[in-house]
Amino acid sequence: MRSFKFTVALTSLLGLASSSQGHQPGTRDLEPPQPWKVTKMSSFSPSGRPGSSTTAWIQATISSPGSVPAGPQEGGNATATFDASTANCTAEWEFAEEQPFGRTYDCVTVSPVSSSGSVSTWSLEIQEGGGDWVSPTGNFNATFTLKTNLTTPDGDSYYKVLVGTQHFAVGDNMRGSCGGSGVCSWYLMEESNPVLIQPTLVVCEGTC
Ligand SMILES: *[C@@H]1O[C@H](CO)[C@@H](O)[C@H](O)[C@H]1NC(C)=O
Ligand SMILES: *[C@@H]1O[C@H](CO)[C@@H](O)[C@H](O)[C@H]1NC(C)=O
Ligand SMILES: *[C@@H]1O[C@H](CO)[C@@H](O)[C@H](O)[C@H]1NC(C)=O
Ligand SMILES: *[C@@H]1O[C@H](CO)[C@@H](O)[C@H](O)[C@H]1NC(C)=O
Repeated sequence: MRSFKFTVALTSLLGLASSSQGHQPGTRDLEPPQPWKVTKMSSFSPSGRPGSSTTAWIQATISSPGSVPAGPQEGGNATATFDASTANCTAEWEFAEEQPFGRTYDCVTVSPVSSSGSVSTWSLEIQEGGGDWVSPTGNFNATFTLKTNLTTPDGDSYYKVLVGTQHFAVGDNMRGSCGGSGVCSWYLMEESNPVLIQPTLVVCEGTC
C-alpha cells in the first residue's frame, strides 16, 4: 500500500507541475483573480521591562472573494467553484531575541470547508518593509498564501495556490501609539480599511 500511495502522490505532483504551465487541455485564461481584503492588521511590541510580556505579535484578518472557477468550464459555466474564505493570522515572536522575518505562520480559517466542499488553508509571512525605519511591528510587508482544493462527487480534484503581498507601515495605512513604558500598539487606519491585496496564481489544477 505504501508504494501505491507514493505513486498517487507523485502523479498528482506531476499533474500540478504540468497544469501550472497552463498547457492542460480544457483550460483557458481566466481574468486575474479578484483582490483579497485585509480588514484587520494589528501589532504589539513589549516594553522589555522585567516581569512584563516579552512576546511581540502581528494579527491579521484576510478574506478572499467567492466563486472562483475550479473545474473545467461547460458553456461558460464553471462546473465547480472555490468559495470565499476568511482567516485569522497571528505571527508571534520573542521580541528581544527573534525577528518574525522568513517564517511561515499558519492561519486559522474561519470555515475551513465551504458549502461547495472547497477546503481553504491560509498562511502568513512577514518581510522587512524597507526604508529607514526598521520595525517588525510598525513597518513590514505581509505575504499571504491561500491554498484551496476541491474534490467533486465524481472524484475530480482541483487545486489552486495564490500568493499576495502588501506593505503595512505606521503613517501609511497603520496608526497607534507607544506607552511611556515602551510598549507600542499599531492598527489599521479606519480610512485604509479594507486594504486590498492583488493575489497571483502560482499553482493550479483545473480551470487556470
Ligand atoms: C449556465 O448557467 C445558466 C444560469 O445558471 C443556465 O441558464 C445555462 O443553461 C447554463 N449553461 C450551460 C451550458 O450549462
Ligand atoms: C477571527 O477573528 C475574529 C475577530 O478578531 C473573531 O471574532 C473570530 O472568533 C475569529 N475566528 C476564529 C476561527 O479564530
Ligand atoms: C485538500 O487540502 C486539505 C488541507 O490542506 C488536505 O487535507 C486534503 O488532503 C486536500 N485534498 C486534496 C484532494 O488534495
Ligand atoms: C514591500 O512592499 C513594498 C511596497 O509594496 C515593495 O516596494 C517592496 O518591494 C516589498 N518588499 C518585499 C521584500 O517584498
